[in-house]
Amino acid sequence: MSATNDQKWKRVWVIGASSGIGRALSEQWAERGVEVIASARSEDALDELDATSGYISALPLDVTDKASIEAAIFKMQDQGCVPDLTLYCAATYHPGGIDVLTVEAARQHMEVNYLGAVGVIAALHPLLKTRGSGEIAIVSSLTSYCGLPLASLYGPTKAALASLCETLRPEFERDGLGLRLINPGFVKTPLTEKNSFKMPFLITPEEAAQRIIRGLEGTGFEIAFPFRMALSLRLLRLLPYRLYFRLMRRMVA
Ligand SMILES: NC(=O)c1ccc[n+]([C@@H]2O[C@H](COP(=O)([O-])OP(=O)(O)OC[C@H]3O[C@@H](n4cnc5c(N)ncnc54)[C@H](OP(=O)(O)O)[C@@H]3O)[C@@H](O)[C@H]2O)c1
Repeated sequence: MSATNDQKWKRVWVIGASSGIGRALSEQWAERGVEVIASARSEDALDELDATSGYISALPLDVTDKASIEAAIFKMQDQGCVPDLTLYCAATYHPGGIDVLTVEAARQHMEVNYLGAVGVIAALHPLLKTRGSGEIAIVSSLTSYCGLPLASLYGPTKAALASLCETLRPEFERDGLGLRLINPGFVKTPLTEKNSFKMPFLITPEEAAQRIIRGLEGTGFEIAFPFRMALSLRLLRLLPYRLYFRLMRRMVA
């Protein structure tokens, strides 16, 4: 369906749309008359989302499968609906420190959170470059600012995403394209249900989606929220390691 709206985007591809922030974003964009292509693995959840709005269409894929990403992009290209904006928010998360650290678990986190994004960026960039327009927004996390307890599997994947986006942004700009980085704090979703600790500044997926959409309407590279948590972690990153680890030791205890 073609959207008639006054939004910056006519067509958005949300990868990780079956729950949490991705689902809330899909719903809010659809309410604004933006055409949403909703991707994730859970076909039932996507079909249910698809049925909520004429502006949403399901396109199942598994980001750990390069062929699945390429098939999805080929299908969009074939149907003449390459997105104006692609938002990558697929992720997996298992909390823990040294107790959960194995090569297999780290690889699984990297495959979904980081390599999936690499696959999407690598496959989409040539199409967007040829067309001469388009943006990709990658959801990382405030966890990417510094190593935090209980994030031995997840934190490095998010730091890698931040580094990748910082590296590629100038080349995207050179090609007339956009590359944005989104760093949320704690959001109440299936992902954070696994956390047994108190999550400061916790917000709903709907609030997170509002902040992301508002941020994407601007032109800044990074969209980080909530402000107080982003500021606290930025300051933490600036501390000398002696002080930083004194605080971290308290958190671990
Ligand atoms: N919640 C927070 O506090 C928080 C904070 C900072 C950053 N973030 C980031 O925000 C983004 C959204 O997270 P969320 O909290 O909304 O979590 P969520 O509800 O668990 O959503 C994760 C999404 O990723 C999809 N996904 C997982 N593995 C996939 C795969 N192999 N292929 C395709 N899709 C896959 C899931 O769908 P299927 O299982 O159906 O595939 C789901 O749609 C993530 O990047 C997360 O790291 C979240």
